[in-house]
Parts: sequence; C-alpha cells; structure tokens
Amino acid sequence: MPGSATSGLCFQPPLIFEQGSPHRTAASLTTDDLPTVDPKAALGSMARKNAPMLPEVSEPEAVRHYVRLSQQNFAIDTGMYPLGSCTMKYNPKVNEWAARLPGFADLHPYMPDDLVQGALELMWRLERGLAEVCGMDRVSLHPAAGAQGELAGLMMIRAHHHAQGRDPKKVLIPDTAHGTNPASCALNGLRAIPFPVGEDGIVSPDGLAPFIGDDVAALMLTNPNTVGLFEAHMTEIAELIHAKGGLVYGDGANLNALMGKARPGDLGIDLMQLNLHKTFTTPHGGGGPGCGPVGYKAFLDPYAPVPVVEQRDGRFVLDHGSRPASIGRLRSFQGNFGMMVRAYTYLREMGAEGLKRATELAVLNANYLRARLGETWHVPYDTICMHEVVISDRHLRQTGVTTMDVAKRLMDYGFHPPTVYFPLVVKGAMLIEPTETESMQTLDEFVEAMQSISDEASSSPDLVKTAPQVTRLRRLDETRAARKPVLRWTAPETPHEPSSASGETAEKRP
Ligand SMILES: Cc1ncc(COP(=O)(O)O)c(C=O)c1O
Repeated sequence: MPGSATSGLCFQPPLIFEQGSPHRTAASLTTDDLPTVDPKAALGSMARKNAPMLPEVSEPEAVRHYVRLSQQNFAIDTGMYPLGSCTMKYNPKVNEWAARLPGFADLHPYMPDDLVQGALELMWRLERGLAEVCGMDRVSLHPAAGAQGELAGLMMIRAHHHAQGRDPKKVLIPDTAHGTNPASCALNGLRAIPFPVGEDGIVSPDGLAPFIGDDVAALMLTNPNTVGLFEAHMTEIAELIHAKGGLVYGDGANLNALMGKARPGDLGIDLMQLNLHKTFTTPHGGGGPGCGPVGYKAFLDPYAPVPVVEQRDGRFVLDHGSRPASIGRLRSFQGNFGMMVRAYTYLREMGAEGLKRATELAVLNANYLRARLGETWHVPYDTICMHEVVISDRHLRQTGVTTMDVAKRLMDYGFHPPTVYFPLVVKGAMLIEPTETESMQTLDEFVEAMQSISDEASSSPDLVKTAPQVTRLRRLDETRAARKPVLRWTAPETPHEPSSASGETAEKRP
C-alpha cells in the first residue's frame, strides 16, 4: 500500500522566516576586497532606516525549507490523481525539455515574423495536428483554458448568427454538463436552457426535440459526457439542431476518450474546444496558464480570433487584418506558447498510433476500476464507460460516512481524491478518472484503498469522518480557505518568535 494510512507524523520545523539565528548566512564568499559603500551617501533619503528582516539561514536550512514545502503538495509526479473530468495524466518530461529550448523559451512576443519562423511553424503544425485529431478545418490556439475556449466558441456562434441577420439567444445544455458551459453562455449574453438526459445517462433525441426551436442558437454537448458515457445519438441530435438553424458546440474537454478513434467533426459538431492541459499532457497551471484551443469548421473562419497563423509563399505570418468579422483578440499576444510547444512535442512523440493506444488504455483503465470498485461501491450507470466512471456513497448511508469523508481519507492512503459531488445528477457522486498513464498495480492499490475505507466506514466511522489523519494539515475549512486564504507571512513583533499568521487556514498538527 503506498502511503500507509497509519504512518507516523514527521517533525515539522517552523517556517523559514522563523528559523536561523542572527548573522547565520548561506554565503561563504569574503567581501574583504570589495569597496565599502555607504548606503546613505549612495541612496540618500531612499536608504532603508532599518535592516530588512530576512531569514538568516544556512544553505542546508534554505534547501530543506523549499524541498519540504514542495513535498507538502500533492502532484501527479508523486501519486495517482484520479480527478474525474480533469484528466490529470502524467506530463512527460520531454515536453519540458522542448519548452525550455532557448530558441523557444527566449522569444519575445514583439519579435517580427521573420525572426520567429520556427515558432510560427510550430503553431501552424500544431493547428494542423489538432484539426486532424478532432475533424475540424481550422483551430485557433489563443484561448488560455477550456472555459475561455467555450467563450470564444460561443462568441463565434453569435457572430455567425448575426451575420445571417438572426439573434437567437437560447443555448441548450444537458443537466450533466460542466458548470463552465452555462457560465460561458451568461458571459456572452446568451441564455442557458438546461434539459434532462435520459435514464441511461445520455441525451435522447426524443427528450431533446421539444426544446428545439428557431430561437436556439446552439446546443452545447460534452462527448463523452460528464458521467463518462458516450453520447451515442450525436449525429441524429446534430441533425435536429441544424434543421432549425442552430449550431452544435462540442465541449471537447473529454477528448482523451476519443482521440484516434472518433472525430467530433465527423459526428456533426461545428466547433469545439480542446483542453491541451488535459488530453495533450501540458501541465494544469492552477487556473492558468493553460491552453484551450477552439477547432471549427471552415464556414466559421471569418469569425476566428486574431491574429491567425497563415502560410504564404513558403513563409509563416501572423495575419491580423483579413477577417473583418473576427471576434477579435481574446488575450495578449498569441496565447500560452510554452503550452503549444509541450502539446506539439506530445503529438510528435505519440504519433497517430500512440494517440489511439492512449485512448484505448484510458477507457480500459476506467472500465477496470468500474468492474473492481463495483464489487463494493454503488455504480449508478453500470454499463461500459469511457475514460471515467461515477460511483456513489449510497452503500455507506447507514454509517453516516459521506463522499466528502471518503475523499479526505483517501489522502491518508496517498491518493488524491476524485472529483466529488459532480456530476450533480448522482447523489454523493465520486467521479474517478484514472487516465491511461496509471499501471494496473497502481489501479489495484487504489481499489484496495477504497475497499479498506469502505470497511473502516462500518468498523470505525469516526476515523473516516475526521480524516485526513496523517497529512500535514487536518481537515480544512474549505469555504474559509477558498474565500479568505492567508497567503502572506506576517512578521512577528520581534525576530525569531513564531509569527501570528502561518499561511494556513486549517488546524495544524500538534
Ligand atoms: C467537461 C469540461 N468542460 C469544460 C471544462 C473547463 O476547462 P478549464 O478548466 O480548462 O477551463 C472542464 C474542466 O475541467 C471540463 O471538465
């Protein structure tokens, strides 16, 4: 079992500002041969009145402090991260090597096109590769996240309708959808109209038909959807929407279960976003800087964000001006270029066969977990799933232990919790996405941890309800941590006394 749930607590030294002692230093260079400078003479009134209160620590103390901090965080590089709907797959280190090549990393966004031909070519090739994977004609690399990709896509849809002299406002969204879908509608002045999915967890054309009218701008559909199921009626649904003049927007966040196997563009989808920080192994950057490109069919090209990389007479150029109906700029410069280098590296490393194999393994791993977890846990949609599986806490209801407690206890076993209480249509949901990069041994360890927690819920529920037990912090007040995070160290009254704020919002270990 990785990270035993009973392992002991480690000694936690104070924060670095509270360590050390006066005049201790990490530098061993002599300053004897340097000229002495009188700060007052050099800086006048700008000279400091008092010496700065900086930590006076040795090199090992400084190194240990930062290494210890890095270990207090959970990362895909330290363990399995089955956060459903987020595709936390391993990020290959070759991507980092490529992104740090000086020819890419040292570019300045104001450099003229002639000096950045290699970078523009990489963007062009990435665009072609992504367009091929998702069956679209073109791809804009601008959006910085999946949600911004949705925003861009909806802006293009609105521009398309306006160009036809129409202004439909409704966007149909199934009740399983990710929260960013209705939020993107609201930001665009469009009205999100939720509709229920069928008993089998997917959209039924008959169930959807009564909602479709001339006032529908688009349908937004995630495929595979957020309960991990393939939307099997996609083509029929797209025909229904198109017949009334609406467009079909594909939320492509879950492309990890389709790439190399099926192309959304071939299933009737007009435009979609791809979350490079999920499917194409670029890091999830704590809300950014990510990359959520939008792929679209040719008829939407006049509205694409600018500038667009074009190839003319064997040269690559950033075209700012030839799309007067463009939705304009989405962000500064050309997007998060480092993410594009990483995603391109991944595409080239994997090749067409590799992408297909990744999809197969992602789906196999999720179904392995569905079958094995199903021996103990309630699986609401117990049918072949795609890249993720939903289970619920239903069998624990007598014990008082809830999904939230299970998530916290998993941390004691060395696993990141899955996504909890989403999708909303399943009470006490845990959405588990193993991804293709986990081995069968790791999946078995995860299943054993889940079985063990299920046993503990019956034999010692308080242990689970008060989890985590062996992490650095006890259970967080999550609302306070999100709304009032303490991110700044506050100096104590006198040096080398413990500070009043420690940057944490939870009860600390004794
Ligand atoms: C289905 C779905 N749509 C949209 C998004 C939004 O993507 P991002 O987090 O990159 O903004 C997510 C993110 O998890 C998602 O799972």
